[in-house]
Amino acid sequence: MSPATTDAIILNEVGRRDGLQNQPRILTAQQRLQLIEALVAAGLRSIEVGSFVSPKAVPAMAGSDEVIAGLPRAPVYWSALVPNRRGYELAKATGIGALGLILATSNTFNEKNLRMTTAQTEATVLELIDACRADGIDALVYLSTAWACPYEGWIDEDVVMAMAATVFAAGAKAVIVSDTIGAAHPGAVKRLMNRLAAEFGAARLACHFHDTRGMALANVYAALEAGIRKFDASIAGLGGCPFAPGATGNVATEDVALLAAQSGCDTGIDLEQLVAAAELARSLTGTAQGGHALGWLRRQRDGGQQRNPALWPR
Ligand code: COA
Ligand code: ZN
Repeated sequence: MSPATTDAIILNEVGRRDGLQNQPRILTAQQRLQLIEALVAAGLRSIEVGSFVSPKAVPAMAGSDEVIAGLPRAPVYWSALVPNRRGYELAKATGIGALGLILATSNTFNEKNLRMTTAQTEATVLELIDACRADGIDALVYLSTAWACPYEGWIDEDVVMAMAATVFAAGAKAVIVSDTIGAAHPGAVKRLMNRLAAEFGAARLACHFHDTRGMALANVYAALEAGIRKFDASIAGLGGCPFAPGATGNVATEDVALLAAQSGCDTGIDLEQLVAAAELARSLTGTAQGGHALGWLRRQRDGGQQRNPALWPR
């Protein structure tokens, strides 16, 4: 199922969480809000604003409550990540309407990331899905290391299918199939996403790719061909999990937005404003590389001899 020109693609911006949690420079809540405002101005309508995790484990996410309190009034689907009951209560107190819950396919990864076995993590996620249902909060489950684990290697597709079945049966609103270390390739993505979409419906699925091996955008396209229309992406390609050795940033929002625009799919994103947001992310962090397309997009915006309006995506 190749994307048709009428298709809308939803980009969920994860730069302030998956992105910033791994940066050497810790941004203040005000700086994180400045970035969020730039993203809203660029037309992003789904944004993960932070996480409620131990500030000792991930110092960059401290103050997520302050970020939520300062969010602009805008028609944006805001979410935050929580690993446990304590994070859940803290997030709920902010009034946020959607929460990401984390469940890795591999036992070692759950132990390194959350200090729980897979059985304990799954029990926690199921308990939190129940709590979400009672509190009217959308439960979005991140199935981490869905293709490969840095400690245990390639993951059996049946494990992912079974976990997705368990969390959907419990009431998860969506499952975000995540290539936490950026090891997946388009063939494997298409295979797994086709299976998941056939079983659970593509509308309830999203994908989350990292660009460690330079294949994130190809993986997005493979997932598009499997009917997936929701993707996590990170402005300027920020990112990398502190508990996933060797993993680099997420697929860059500007790369996915340009792919969508050139394919004729609607994202609601203004590419020129998105360049401004990517530049802000780069200047605030000092380390973000920018997506593969950022240089081209910037030259188009800045005009001069290189500009060719006839080739700007419509
Ligand atoms: N928010 C804030 N603080 C939390 C918390 C949360 N969700 N969960 C635990 N804490 C605090 C506890 O209060 C305790 O604080 P104290 O030392 O001041 O008493 C401390 O963290 C340790 O708590 P404990 O229950 O023993 O947890 P732990 O040490 O086993 O840590 C995690 C488990 C999951 C809380 C911690 O490792 C964590 O937050 N990891 C971050 C995972 C992450 O963000 N990964 C990247 C995204 S996938
Ligand atoms: Zn990630």
